[in-house]
Amino acid sequence: MDTEAWRKGCDIEELADGARLVEIARRKVVIMKAGDRLFAFNDLCAHSGGPMHRAEVEGTVLTCPLHGWRFDLARDGEELHGFRPLAVYPVRQSGDSVEVFL
Ligand code: FES
Repeated sequence: MDTEAWRKGCDIEELADGARLVEIARRKVVIMKAGDRLFAFNDLCAHSGGPMHRAEVEGTVLTCPLHGWRFDLARDGEELHGFRPLAVYPVRQSGDSVEVFL
């Protein structure tokens, strides 16, 4: 297993038009900018693996396209009905890059 570390996800300019799906350390991760905040989360929905890069976005709340579980990125991926949370990862900007801690 890889050691956890800050890893480059994408360039900051690549987020200008919304979320971006990337692969980091063999994991599919979505990086998203909401207002002036950055978020990174697992592309696999906590319910049954739905594609979270295709989620409907309202502010910091994501709705899975398969069965409608809703996750709030501003509350560490908490599911709004109390189901399992979405895996979220620490993310930061470093110069022109966006890095994710995985
Ligand atoms: S796979 Fe996301 S709600 Fe079912």
